[in-house]
Amino acid sequence: MGKSSPNSGIYLPTKITKLPDLLNQVRNAKRKIAQLKLEGLYLSDAWLEKKLALNTKQPQYYWRLRTKHGLFPNGRKTMYVRQDEVQKYRKAIALGREIKKLERFIKLTSQRAARLIKRAELRGIVIQNPLGDADSSHDWYTPLMYVEMVRQVLGTIDLDPASNDTAQQWIQAGRYYTKEDDGLNQPWFLSVYLNPPYGSPEVRLLAQKFLEKAIFEYQSGNITAAILLLNRTGASWYKKLLHQVTALCEVHKRISFIDKHGMQQRSPRYYNDFLYLGKEPEKFKSVFEKIGNVTIFEKSLAII
Ligand SMILES: C[S@@+](CC[C@H](N)C(=O)[O-])C[C@H]1O[C@@H](n2cnc3c(N)ncnc32)[C@H](O)[C@@H]1O
Repeated sequence: MGKSSPNSGIYLPTKITKLPDLLNQVRNAKRKIAQLKLEGLYLSDAWLEKKLALNTKQPQYYWRLRTKHGLFPNGRKTMYVRQDEVQKYRKAIALGREIKKLERFIKLTSQRAARLIKRAELRGIVIQNPLGDADSSHDWYTPLMYVEMVRQVLGTIDLDPASNDTAQQWIQAGRYYTKEDDGLNQPWFLSVYLNPPYGSPEVRLLAQKFLEKAIFEYQSGNITAAILLLNRTGASWYKKLLHQVTALCEVHKRISFIDKHGMQQRSPRYYNDFLYLGKEPEKFKSVFEKIGNVTIFEKSLAII
């Protein structure tokens, strides 16, 4: 059975919607391999053998390392190992096996992903950014429907601290900062709507900095209210900062953002949260509960 994407109206077979997860799994496995390789010596396709030495009066054992593929530094497929080196090579073999398992997983998962991409293309669906975050645009703009909801709560959007000319055609903030201005180093004021930059891991760090700044500016009284749209993440910084906002809306559906060409994202990969800082959490709730679960944090109210 398939299902249709709520915003595009395009029929997507269920399996194609799994593509983001598959690509994420591949990325994680690659990251894990890089970490394992840093742990020290690793040997692929090798094993240790304990052999009984012949031609000795007393039974004596010795160890040798063997491999089917490749060669050891001695240029052979067998290498003798001293007793005190056995532990080191056992660890290297275990590491090598773990890496190989991950490589097999990456191969199979990438093949599955490639089949899904092909199937999508046959149906005329273009998968954006099939290679993952690092290659993706940082510019995912908020669809008008959500901007209107923000306006219902804030009244006006006086400042959008991370923006560009295109998104401003419909956000129409009183003032906005672009990458060149660097919104993190500019004064913030009145009511703020913020959808921070996405993309590579370095850019993702910006989301944390923007959220920290929003909380700081609100608690300092420099801004009157703010609504932030963020990717939902299990990161500890996010969980910690969430409890400092006034209210949270966990959006039920993945939001299909708008790209810089004005096209709606076909296969959104992340779930999103709207975070509210302000004195009217009930108003925020009444508007945003239509699209997700809303939680009001009592403690954060006490800070104000
Ligand atoms: C995810 S888009 C959101 C655009 C718009 N605010 C919206 O909600 O549709 C983030 C925007 O922030 C801009 N940006 C990146 N780094 C920035 C920075 N340090 N200061 C201000 N804007 C920045 C990007 O160029 C991009 O246009």
